[in-house]
Amino acid sequence: MTRSIVVANQKGGVGKTTTVANLGAALTAMGQRVLLIDLDPQAALTATYGYDPYNLPLSMYSVLMSDTTSLARVIRPAGVKGMMAIAPGSVDLASAEL
Ligand SMILES: Nc1ncnc2c1ncn2[C@@H]1O[C@H](COP(=O)(O)OP(=O)(O)OP(=O)(O)O)[C@@H](O)[C@H]1O
Ligand SMILES: [Mg+2]
Repeated sequence: MTRSIVVANQKGGVGKTTTVANLGAALTAMGQRVLLIDLDPQAALTATYGYDPYNLPLSMYSVLMSDTTSLARVIRPAGVKGMMAIAPGSVDLASAEL
């Protein structure tokens, strides 16, 4: 069964991104299939895995804002020998809330 874990806190700099990156790696090492979903316009998690949040044709912004972009279309490999995946965030997520 799929389980979703959300890491969210209004306060900045409290370790959200660090927690997600390390929890993802730990669960992957335990044999779980992990998809990281970056919904932060700062997109630090996305940058961690080598994707430029200023230059992404498809991101979670597209998934949220477009009827034609599925989650599956934006997923990319994320470190750890390709065992983990990321649905990247991008800076335009800042405007999605509007
Ligand atoms: N357990 C920890 N012990 C010490 N330092 C930590 C720990 N977790 C994270 N940090 C450090 O704290 C800083 C902030 O962490 P992080 O970027 O993960 O926070 P954040 O909540 O995602 O921040 P933001 O609100 O900017 O997205 C970073 O420099 C990170 O290396
Ligand atoms: Mg962060």
